[in-house]
Amino acid sequence: MNTVLKVDNITKSFGGLMAVKNFSLELPEREIHGIIGPNGAGKTTVFNLITGVYHPDNGHILLGEKEVSSLPADVISRSGIARTFQNIRLFSQMTVLDNIKVALGHRTNYRLWDVMLGLNRFRRQEKVIFI
Ligand SMILES: Nc1ncnc2c1ncn2[C@@H]1O[C@H](COP(=O)(O)OP(=O)(O)OP(=O)(O)O)[C@@H](O)[C@H]1O
Ligand SMILES: [Mg+2]
Repeated sequence: MNTVLKVDNITKSFGGLMAVKNFSLELPEREIHGIIGPNGAGKTTVFNLITGVYHPDNGHILLGEKEVSSLPADVISRSGIARTFQNIRLFSQMTVLDNIKVALGHRTNYRLWDVMLGLNRFRRQEKVIFI
């Protein structure tokens, strides 16, 4: 089976505190894995490293064949990694559906004027998001 995500020996320190030390992981496609550990073990830091919130001090992160460990978070997200957060911040004035649609914004490529003028490019892509 293909490996979709390979984390190879990553380490991350914050000042003198080593939050993640020599962490490795290989995820085959179509499998579900979890990370468990006590408070402060470094689980969230691992997710932050995989998704580009932080960059590892050492080691490699490969999404498929692509090395992503030094890429910015938005580029990693567009490469195909989705995540949620331990402390979520919803848009309280928006509906549940609109909150979910925000997460799909990176899959659209319409411009502000497409929205303002209600052009086809905007309506077509919004329809896809709805499904
Ligand atoms: N940005 C940061 N700056 C300094 N220290 C940090 C930072 N982020 C995490 N840490 C520290 O790194 C260690 C690992 O934290 P992390 O949040 O990854 O643990 P966790 O396993 O997710 O814990 P929990 O189960 O409580 O969610 C902790 O000691 C934490 O205080
Ligand atoms: Mg955590």
